[in-house]
Amino acid sequence: MPRPIQATIHPAALRANLERARRAAPDARVWAVVKANAYGHGIERVWGALRGADGIALLDLDEAERVRQLGWRGPILLLEGVFEPRDLELCSRLSLWHAVHCDAQIDWLSAHKTHVPHRVFLKMNSGMNRLGFRPERFRAAWARLSALPQVEEISLMTHFSDADGPRGIAHQLAAFQTATEDLPGERSICNSAALLRHGLQADVRLDWVRAGIALYGGAPDHPQRTASDWGLQPAMTLASRLIGVQQLSEGETVGYGSRFAAPGAMAIGVVACGYADGYPRHAPTGTPVLVDGVRTRVVGRVSMDMLAVDLTPVPDAAIGSEVTLWGRGPGGAVLPVDEVAEAAGTIGYELMCAVAPRVPVAVEPD
Ligand SMILES: Cc1ncc(COP(=O)(O)O)c(C=O)c1O
Repeated sequence: MPRPIQATIHPAALRANLERARRAAPDARVWAVVKANAYGHGIERVWGALRGADGIALLDLDEAERVRQLGWRGPILLLEGVFEPRDLELCSRLSLWHAVHCDAQIDWLSAHKTHVPHRVFLKMNSGMNRLGFRPERFRAAWARLSALPQVEEISLMTHFSDADGPRGIAHQLAAFQTATEDLPGERSICNSAALLRHGLQADVRLDWVRAGIALYGGAPDHPQRTASDWGLQPAMTLASRLIGVQQLSEGETVGYGSRFAAPGAMAIGVVACGYADGYPRHAPTGTPVLVDGVRTRVVGRVSMDMLAVDLTPVPDAAIGSEVTLWGRGPGGAVLPVDEVAEAAGTIGYELMCAVAPRVPVAVEPD
């Protein structure tokens, strides 16, 4: 029998979250962001549920090929553009739209031989200082691109650094709007946080929104708002079972480094899940977990293949009891991945992306 751990993908939740994203910007078209293998869910597994999106946005060319092989004929956007000149051949062959964020990419395009002119998304660095042309250089880049026979249409994009936090988007939005005021072309500026928090703002022009984490049921601004505050449903459950139970006396310790000492007599359960499955090793004592749908906590250090949980609130738990690391538990209980991530000092995105290849993944039937 295999280890009892399993991840389950919930297509109905993906579909509902896509609809939720649409409601946040009813006039916009939605890119479903499926980079990093659909945030760890698996492109092929989310495919059926997300094909109602208007476009698919990703980074890796092999992921773009996989999406075309799945039969998607609509727009695909390479969010970082191409990485070397020959990638442009694939863009021509598969009709990939691609971001252009630096002069080198324009040079490569100008040398590219194609009968199929490309649709590009010219990216502005409006303050994140990751990729893109600075506002004062944006117009010159636009002029260069628009003079190229290889380019058919130029859209304009930027990315917000603080859409999920107190600084907000106003400073970057102002930079973007000022520098692009009289330039033609569609705009794409919002990620999930900007979409949910600012999508209905009158001054935000939203031709295309780029929804990532919201589709997978994570709150982009946890803990200010939870996924359920935003009407989002978990699209992934990571579940396992108890494979051992220990009765501890006061003062007895649990796991490597003896990080947890029992304050009194108590039962702990040993779960078939560890950091080699993608569960965060830094999750401290107190990290929430469900046993048989009842909320309890991780105790002691997470080890490679196991972790321990406090069974005090679930006295009937026994070997074989179902453990929900995040997502949906029995009896309608839900443990948001964001809460586990917060306890472990990270974000839900990282936990979803980190589920290890050894974890079997099932897709819930519709
Ligand atoms: C350029 C770009 N757009 C959109 C997204 C989607 O962001 P989120 O998952 O926060 O919606 C990302 C993800 O990091 C991104 O890099």
